Amino acid sequence: MESLTVELGDRSYPILIGDGLIRNIGGHVAPLLRRPRTMIITDSHVAAHYLTGVGASLGAEGISFSSFVLEPGEATKSWGGLARLTEWLIGEGVERSDHVIALGGGVIGDLVGFACSIVKRGCHFIQVPTTLLAQVDSSVGGKTAINVAAGKNMIGAFHQPALVVIDPATLATLPRRDLAAGYAEVVKYGLIDDADFFAWCEAQGAALLAGDSDARQKAIAHSVAAKARIVAADERETQDVRALLNLGHSFGHALEAETGYSDKLLHGEAVAAGMALAYRFSAAQGLCPTADADRVAAHLTAVGLPHGLASAGVDADGTTLAGHMAHDKKVRGGKLPLILARGIGQSFVTDEFGLDIVAAFLDREGQR
Ligand SMILES: NC(=O)c1ccc[n+]([C@@H]2O[C@H](COP(=O)([O-])OP(=O)(O)OC[C@H]3O[C@@H](n4cnc5c(N)ncnc54)[C@H](O)[C@@H]3O)[C@@H](O)[C@H]2O)c1
Ligand SMILES: [Zn+2]
Repeated sequence: MESLTVELGDRSYPILIGDGLIRNIGGHVAPLLRRPRTMIITDSHVAAHYLTGVGASLGAEGISFSSFVLEPGEATKSWGGLARLTEWLIGEGVERSDHVIALGGGVIGDLVGFACSIVKRGCHFIQVPTTLLAQVDSSVGGKTAINVAAGKNMIGAFHQPALVVIDPATLATLPRRDLAAGYAEVVKYGLIDDADFFAWCEAQGAALLAGDSDARQKAIAHSVAAKARIVAADERETQDVRALLNLGHSFGHALEAETGYSDKLLHGEAVAAGMALAYRFSAAQGLCPTADADRVAAHLTAVGLPHGLASAGVDADGTTLAGHMAHDKKVRGGKLPLILARGIGQSFVTDEFGLDIVAAFLDREGQR
């Protein structure tokens, strides 16, 4: 087992990583509890594989629990899901000193985290991520949210977990498409500021996706360490440091909006295409060598991820797509900060480019 800490003063918390960890989760949770009781929130896919094992481990430590199983899918991260979950927690007699367990992917983690930030004005929660995306990204950092009509993740809070328990062995049951989508966020950490890690991804990405457990453990530990460092430096994204985590996300967000945040294009798939677009945009502006943009696209292609508008299944014009970007919640003072790059592992934030320039670029991309 590996362990690291997200350093946030009195809100610091450990991240544990190791195959088989959730079968012993009770031992890691017990020391945190003021009374031997917890509540597990999960979705039905995850429940079918892991709820019994997690429950048995809690039971072995003398911890009683109740569980709430939600519908899988993005639609659960909604006002309706939040209402049902918070009412259920209150019905279960949740106390402010309790630790609620979020067992699942980013949907469960984001919803449970937000519910725990508001129920009785806040209780603790523990992230037990079971998708690659959640294990390398969403379970760490304390961003929680639901989706509303006005947009994705528009209502939420910063609420850090008390513990993150990552069991890479749970990825064995994750559908290959979700696995590849999560892998896009792994590649992102290389592109942000770590060219050596990107080169490692080029060498090991295929093995990781095929099931190599050493490669999975290494990628998760490396990604989570990078995220923990960035979150510790800029917890609430008030400087440009945490904004770098949005590499590929502004372009990706436009693609997700255009495809209706549906199964047509998963978040990580949109991020993959968005990263390729951010690099080609950087190259088009003379900021980054074209060879580096080509290298990014080549690796994404090699692992079967989208690397542009066509492979993401989007044929909208540039003005439409730039219009989606204008609704990004990162817009400040009417300008959208873009994460661009000077090369592999050399990303930076700028608001130098207007959406008209972005629209013209996306029009050219549409004709590629
Ligand atoms: N808070 C953050 O910082 C942050 C960062 C990135 C993404 N997100 C959010 O994360 C969400 C996406 O998360 P996701 O990609 O994990 O999707 P998800 O939670 O919908 O999980 C994907 C699918 O895999 C299933 N599943 C999960 N674990 C499984 C397992 N081990 N075996 C078999 N099936 C399993 C789920 O039931 C679901 O059908 C989005 O809502 C996004 O906004 C949040
Ligand atoms: Zn993301």
